[in-house]
Amino acid sequence: MNRITNIAIVGLGQVGVYLYNELRLKKKEIEKKTGKKIRVVAISAKNINKKRQFPINKKIFYKNPIKIFSNEKIDILFECVGLSDGISKKIVEIALKKKINVITPNKALIAKHGDSLSKLAEKNKVNLEFEASVAGGIPILRTIKEGLATNKINKVYGILNGTTNYILSEMENSQEPFKKVLTKAQKLGYAEPGNPKLDLNGFDAFAKVRILSALAFNSRISKKKCLMEGIQNIELKDIKIANQLNLRIKLLGISQIIDDKLFETVHPCLVSKNTYIGNVNGVMNAVIIEGKPVGNSVLQGEGAGPGPTSSSLLSDLLSILRGNIKYPFGIAFKNRKSIKPFNNDMYSNSLYIRFEVKDKQGVLSYITNRLSKYKISVKRIIQTPDRKSRSATIVVITHKTTEINVKNCLSIFKKNKNIFKSPTLIRLYN
Ligand SMILES: NC(=O)c1ccc[n+]([C@@H]2O[C@H](COP(=O)([O-])OP(=O)(O)OC[C@H]3O[C@@H](n4cnc5c(N)ncnc54)[C@H](OP(=O)(O)O)[C@@H]3O)[C@@H](O)[C@H]2O)c1
Repeated sequence: MNRITNIAIVGLGQVGVYLYNELRLKKKEIEKKTGKKIRVVAISAKNINKKRQFPINKKIFYKNPIKIFSNEKIDILFECVGLSDGISKKIVEIALKKKINVITPNKALIAKHGDSLSKLAEKNKVNLEFEASVAGGIPILRTIKEGLATNKINKVYGILNGTTNYILSEMENSQEPFKKVLTKAQKLGYAEPGNPKLDLNGFDAFAKVRILSALAFNSRISKKKCLMEGIQNIELKDIKIANQLNLRIKLLGISQIIDDKLFETVHPCLVSKNTYIGNVNGVMNAVIIEGKPVGNSVLQGEGAGPGPTSSSLLSDLLSILRGNIKYPFGIAFKNRKSIKPFNNDMYSNSLYIRFEVKDKQGVLSYITNRLSKYKISVKRIIQTPDRKSRSATIVVITHKTTEINVKNCLSIFKKNKNIFKSPTLIRLYN
């Protein structure tokens, strides 16, 4: 690498422009810590005149990021656009082929194309770093790749999405319904103003689960359809009932090896208020790694926002500046094997099932009979009638049962006119 390291940043949104400013402010510190001088020689975004959080040097601005490669000598590219394909994939591929190191916070790109991109990076003997793609400022990927390198990891799980954790915590604190709290989250910048769907439906957390699995189990990125549910159907009522049971609802991302097979999931879980994970609130993320011989390691911190994200991007930068070409996923591509997927139908949990029903004799026994027909045994029932509307809320807590039983059993309830809507299902964390 040259004495002065030339840097390009493509994407000057929330993350890119913050990073650009940090590079300016921390130039000296970076030089002190790595012995390398850095210089940002090119920046790119869609609109040169857009008002941004920090001023930019328009003289080095490119509307078309592809042109950077022919006009400048780049050593390190930061991809901060955020698409899973399109221009994001294109510039990363061009850079790697041109032997330019790449750093990106783009989980959508890595979860989808991480395997082919890491192969390309290895072939061209450059780095592809993506610490900021999982859990923002928490150095979870480097911890797995380096700190826990010789441990046998069996499970990685945690709260991987700050938006949903904020919404669930705030519903409990303010006793306000989902929609109102979502609006609040959007105003505070915790949820995307236009389309927060990818956070709410679990997709964002799931991309992170896929990246974590590949690192923790030295495997290829899995492609199989997984069990993925978001928090869109959680109502204030569920939060209140959970509270009575000394439980809290958390959206957990889980990746684990069960019977030598890979099981990945994202879904809301009821966790005890007395557990560590039950007390990670607000926009915080937390990741727990179960490894041998290390035992349980816990990392908690801010999982989003330009500050924490830039912290991880700069840690990638320093890692590159300090030298060494590292395998993007910790080991060589050829040594990363695919792991057979665990059959989702056999995943088993105790369940919380909430029914909204007509307050009428026979409805409760209909529900319990149906559950027992599908071998779902009941542990506890909480029935709350509402005399005014002649309706009732029935919550059934079950013993452990498999997904396939639940799927078959719950579909039957849709047909009963005394049951107003599809029951709400939340799994209890084992
Ligand atoms: N925001 C966070 O807290 C956070 C946390 C962790 C990871 N990340 C990841 O960081 C990445 C960036 O997120 P963000 O929140 O900064 O996104 P953003 O605010 O939407 O910024 C996207 C940037 O890409 C630019 N862009 C779009 N199309 C382009 C093109 N064809 N050529 C050049 N530039 C183009 C946009 O230009 P204009 O500005 O001109 O429109 C904008 O500057 C994503 O992968 C995201 O998942 C974000």
